[in-house]
Amino acid sequence: MPQTQIIEKIKQTKIVPVVVLNSVEETLPKMQALINGGLPCAEITFRTPCAAEAIALTVKKFPEMLVGAGTVINREQCEKAIAAGSKFIVSPGFSEEVADCCKAHDMLYLPGVVTPTEAMAAIAKGLTTLKFFPVSNYGGLKTIKAICAAFPYLQIMPTGGISADNILEYLAYDKIIACGGSWMMSGTPKEIEEKTRAAVKLVK
Ligand code: 3PG
Repeated sequence: MPQTQIIEKIKQTKIVPVVVLNSVEETLPKMQALINGGLPCAEITFRTPCAAEAIALTVKKFPEMLVGAGTVINREQCEKAIAAGSKFIVSPGFSEEVADCCKAHDMLYLPGVVTPTEAMAAIAKGLTTLKFFPVSNYGGLKTIKAICAAFPYLQIMPTGGISADNILEYLAYDKIIACGGSWMMSGTPKEIEEKTRAAVKLVK
């Protein structure tokens, strides 16, 4: 799928659940809960060793889901995420080697930034859709607006400290394409489904 289409899908879902899986067995119940709650999208993070396997399993069982890889910090993880079937790659910060790897695979890369210097490093690699992380520690919406004033062509996906309490404030700003967050991912699959459904209702 072309990168522009992936960005369009991210815009439509408005929320990108940030998922940490402690074992591959957790994958399908949690992904099913997201789907049941109306949010067929997930950023499965490389914070745990089962990430690539979990992504591959999700892609196989739920091909309609928009599955990306998060916390990708080097080329090796990036290659594994792409081989597993990830549709986009996210990093907490900006990584030149991940940017190069994504470019070689024509893969959408959302590097994390919080400063103009980091935004410029990403822009120099041709990247204009960026994660802003951790947004609540780095000035919130006010900082995003100040940075976008200098780089008006940027599209931003803020994450870090976003929840049902503040997501609407972020989504109201037109440079923000979606918000990432883990607030719906705690508890049992039933609880995940309920929190997801509430989140979807809130943003639609
Ligand atoms: C991320 O990597 O995007 C964050 O861990 C998500 O932040 P949150 O847990 O505060 O939602």
